[in-house]
Amino acid sequence: MKHLIDPMDITMEELEDLFRLTEEIIGSEDDFNYVCSNKILATLFYEPSTRTKFSFEAAMLRLGGRVIGFSDPDSSSVMKGESIPDTIRTVGSYVDIIAMRHPKEGSPKYASLYSPVPVINAGDGGHQHPTQTLTDLFTIRQLKGQISNLTIGLCGDLKFGRTVHSLIKSISRYTNIKLILISPHELQIPQYIKMEVLRKNNIPFLEVERLEDVIDELDILYMTRVQKERFFNEEDYIRLKDSYVLNKEKLRLAKEDLAILHPLPRVNEIGYEVDEDPRACYFQQVRYGMYIRMALIIRLLGVM
Ligand code: CP
Repeated sequence: MKHLIDPMDITMEELEDLFRLTEEIIGSEDDFNYVCSNKILATLFYEPSTRTKFSFEAAMLRLGGRVIGFSDPDSSSVMKGESIPDTIRTVGSYVDIIAMRHPKEGSPKYASLYSPVPVINAGDGGHQHPTQTLTDLFTIRQLKGQISNLTIGLCGDLKFGRTVHSLIKSISRYTNIKLILISPHELQIPQYIKMEVLRKNNIPFLEVERLEDVIDELDILYMTRVQKERFFNEEDYIRLKDSYVLNKEKLRLAKEDLAILHPLPRVNEIGYEVDEDPRACYFQQVRYGMYIRMALIIRLLGVM
């Protein structure tokens, strides 16, 4: 594992190793306080972020490393027209590892071709978000004890939601998974994922428009926001943005041991009253996201 660009860059053995290491870190965090003491992480974020950027930075700081980077490319020489290869070669001369988010699909992959140090895709356009997938898989494993034998509902913007695309790719490697894809017709999962991931791996899936019709079947409900920044016109966004609002009333229909996940940020799709429900696990998911990034940094740097 030199770079992490696509969730499939990690083998199942490497995934299990990351999960075990994450559990070790959670169990005895103090033992990991200095493992990256001479290492530097750069966070190059060409697109806004709260969780991914700060969790990477917090992860490196908790490992004893240091962090540099930008969250506004206009404050760097990108503003003067510097290319991705030149930026990466330069930053890669100063640091040991780079986490990069970019609005254009394929940019972290392109960067990795020129980078002297490991590049982690921290989200590229509507394409992939592999470290969110690590977070999601680890959360499911902690909550359910396994990632197999589950009915998982993915609800919201399945067209532009990169976390959904990455999660489907990765989860297709587990056994006895059934997916229920809940979205408005216009925001259905892209055809290439249906053909190249779901059908190719014989993953049973169902596409529906109403959450209420299927919520009682679900072990996991993965809510997502409608991705405003990927729409070509505002009218469509306004029409679709409140397609789903999870509230107490809808949850009455759900299983007692349902786990509600959300990559966040949330807009309107989960009412704040749901946060009090023991089935709401999205802030636990946020916390796990930092720990699994600690494990990922350790393994990519080969420091343990
Ligand atoms: N889940 C996620 O990618 O959140 P941010 O956009 O805040 O990083």
